[in-house]
Amino acid sequence: MKSLSQRLQSIPPSATIAVNDKAKALKAAGRDVISLAGGDPDFDTPAHIVAAAKAALDAGDTHYPPSRGTMAIRRAIAGKMAREYGLEVDPATQVLVSPGAKFLIYAALTALLNPGDEVIVFEPYWVSYVPMVILAGGTPVTVSLDPAEGFRITPEVEAAITPRTKAMLVNSPSNPTGHVISQEEAALVRDLALKHDLYVISDEIYEKLIFEGEHINLASLPGMAERTITVNGHSKAYAMTGWRLGWAVGPAEIIGLMAKLQSQTVTSAASFTMAAGAEALNGPQDEVERMRLAYKARRDYMVDALNGIPGVACDPPQGAFYLFVRFPGLGTDSMELANILLEEAEIAGTPGIAFGQAGEGHVRFSIATSMEELKRAVARIEKLMQRRGG
Ligand SMILES: Cc1ncc(COP(=O)(O)O)c(C=O)c1O
Repeated sequence: MKSLSQRLQSIPPSATIAVNDKAKALKAAGRDVISLAGGDPDFDTPAHIVAAAKAALDAGDTHYPPSRGTMAIRRAIAGKMAREYGLEVDPATQVLVSPGAKFLIYAALTALLNPGDEVIVFEPYWVSYVPMVILAGGTPVTVSLDPAEGFRITPEVEAAITPRTKAMLVNSPSNPTGHVISQEEAALVRDLALKHDLYVISDEIYEKLIFEGEHINLASLPGMAERTITVNGHSKAYAMTGWRLGWAVGPAEIIGLMAKLQSQTVTSAASFTMAAGAEALNGPQDEVERMRLAYKARRDYMVDALNGIPGVACDPPQGAFYLFVRFPGLGTDSMELANILLEEAEIAGTPGIAFGQAGEGHVRFSIATSMEELKRAVARIEKLMQRRGG
């Protein structure tokens, strides 16, 4: 047989697979595994959003929509960006709606990169960034952020920029660290982008889940609109992961290329989900706030409880819904930590190494799960650490 795609085969297997497989096997064997490994809100999609989808279906909105998204949702997105950040975008040419934000990051990379172009990816990074840069034909250049510095972007990043650097991928609030970029970091990203003529892909999917600090939309900083693709979506803020709905705004030429990729591959997002998506953006936002406050209460509880256990340490994340936890009492090899947690406490977490070398020493716990489950998890960790002698 002839050989298969080298590009796809060159992508390393995800470090989460082994732990996930083991968690599934334990569950299948009847063990009561508490899963803190996922990124899926435990809340239901707010009722007024579900009602909008039902109404669209009842009205026969079941045909091919415009490939870039219905004008209704594109206007809702443009309206949100203008209202919240003063960023004016033309819904006809500068907005693209896709089945999920993930596809849009891949589409943005594909629109920007030629073979050998480098993309700066800050580490710890969301697991899909590095594979997506490779799939899009580029070369990922990872820059480690220091936990002792609170995973801040510092001026040292400039040393990683070469004449081949095309773009920087920024994610704030960050999955997995929960770091929210400050004015100072945003200014640094902007200065570097302008100085070295770089594009910025800004993944802002956790925008609405901030506990401290304020969200900065990088595109709205002076000189950034023409070089920034903002990626966002409904999955996290509106608890709509299964609907597959994301959007990007950016320069018309880049959005045009991304739209070309979409129209020649996945065609569009689903028609009636876009009706729901427009309602989510235009309608009342009190459910978003209710969920944010629930995540905040869980964060506060977990950070306090974990730091109260000898041998466990956890800095409070400023945003998103993950805790990046250290277990100095157990060791620093994150695969081993995840295995111990799973085998001895029946808790599934994600080993930090899944987010790159800079994630070593950590296990990521999701707090997108009920307080009751989180309390059970804390009790198990307490027992585990007592057995292990802290
Ligand atoms: C940082 C980050 N970006 C993008 C996504 C993708 O979201 P979507 O469901 O819109 O594809 C996720 C999902 O976990 C994420 O954590």
